[in-house]
Amino acid sequence: MDSMFEMIEGYDPSDKDLVLLLHLDAETPCYDTERLPAALANCPAPEDAGGKRWCHAAAIDGAFIAAMSVRLDGADYPSSENLKQAVVKALATAKEEKLARLCIPLDNSFPGAESLAKAIQEGAILGGYAFDSFLSKKAEPLKCVLCLQAPPTADLEKIIAETGTVTAAVNQARDLCNEPPNSLYPESMAQKLKTMAEQAGMSVSIWDTDKLEQERCGGILAVGRGSSQKPRLVVAEYQPKDATSCCTLTLVGKGVTFDTGGYSLKPSESQVGMKYDMAGAATVFAAASAIASLGLPLTIKAYAPLVENNVSSNAYKVNDIVTTRSGTTVEILNTDAEGRMLLADALALASEEKPDYLVDVATLTGAAVVGLGEDIAAVYGTDASLTAQMLEASSETGEFFWEMPLYAPYAEKLKATVADVNNTGKTRMGGSIVAALFLKKWINEGQKWLHLDVAGPGGKEDTLGPIGKGGKGFGVRTLVALAKILSQA
Ligand code: BES
Ligand code: ZN
Ligand code: ZN
Repeated sequence: MDSMFEMIEGYDPSDKDLVLLLHLDAETPCYDTERLPAALANCPAPEDAGGKRWCHAAAIDGAFIAAMSVRLDGADYPSSENLKQAVVKALATAKEEKLARLCIPLDNSFPGAESLAKAIQEGAILGGYAFDSFLSKKAEPLKCVLCLQAPPTADLEKIIAETGTVTAAVNQARDLCNEPPNSLYPESMAQKLKTMAEQAGMSVSIWDTDKLEQERCGGILAVGRGSSQKPRLVVAEYQPKDATSCCTLTLVGKGVTFDTGGYSLKPSESQVGMKYDMAGAATVFAAASAIASLGLPLTIKAYAPLVENNVSSNAYKVNDIVTTRSGTTVEILNTDAEGRMLLADALALASEEKPDYLVDVATLTGAAVVGLGEDIAAVYGTDASLTAQMLEASSETGEFFWEMPLYAPYAEKLKATVADVNNTGKTRMGGSIVAALFLKKWINEGQKWLHLDVAGPGGKEDTLGPIGKGGKGFGVRTLVALAKILSQA
């Protein structure tokens, strides 16, 4: 992935370059005009806020150079997200125009140059991503070169190294999400998560069905029973080596490698995209691995319950009563509300250890997508300051999260007569809230906990503007930012 982005000093025209000239507004170029070939230095800024224009397409020193100027004001997206999107679009344009490189001159002494550099790098690495493992013809990746006008400071070097680690983790999560369900199933995903986490220095164990049985994980086992691909639980842990740990952050992610709905079968159209139903597990393992690689001073634990929700004569059925890890029994009213059954066990395991902070990530409900659309994730929290820290992390990264209420009276809907609770809440009303209240039943009293329902940005194909179809690795950057905030608090 590194090869998609390079940081160099100065700009030397090379044949078929697309030079992207950034302007904060009509008067403020982000590059040093003295240090560019005159033909580019004289490129006018676009007239309109947020606009772009071709401003050069001719030879410079015998090399064909195209240049486009863009204005970063008048943004659709907040702050640096707009620049990231501009880089993603420029990469696409360069590909269409059969150009060879994207070069972005940046004046290091420009105010906020570090955050501009970071946004450019994110745009380059996330926008340059392609899932081509199953394509017979693979496209050449197009390199993005950040052309600094002076040597980078140590600070900038550090930001670039960190951003490289985090964006690589995002793309690893995207690879997992994009892999088709005939090649990514619980056992194969468990192996991939193990490799990823071990490479980051975490210790990992994989629980098979015998171990899940021993540990009374009835929810994971019930959902997993319908598939010939047996369920797994992956547990990973990281202890900081060179620093004292401030606290423990436990991450739990829903890992349904494919969600047919089970006997409460999804209509065919709704099954398309259900390979992304493991996005939560991919996100928490990618984030945990990035946090470990960065050596942040906190203890990280990650849990990924992995199942394929499918039909067979063994599959769990409506009206089954399932005993979960905590002893709480659940009457199944819909086998398509499976994510919460896995999370019940995994959250119980996590909560028993009383971590300082517990966060789960899940493509949990269609209701979250109806409520917030495809780009925005729902946040539920039991601790106001943890929720505020999460929203602060979200505003730093530009990944959009919005707080939703854990409105206690709705827990009524989860009552059952023959078991402790039912798994659906009976109606579709407030479905994302009811699901969050269901999960809360497996969280110890007093536990600081966040539930992130990422069914929109995590589980939908067409989201988040031009960043590309398919898996987004949504949440990885924000969880890393949250870990930083928690370790500095
Ligand atoms: N994986 C789905 C939720 C989902 C829907 C994710 C759309 C991404 C896009 C989940 O397992 C599910 O089907 N939930 C049901 C719950 C209902 C039966 C209580 C839902 O949301 O309809
Ligand atoms: Zn489902
Ligand atoms: Zn699901």
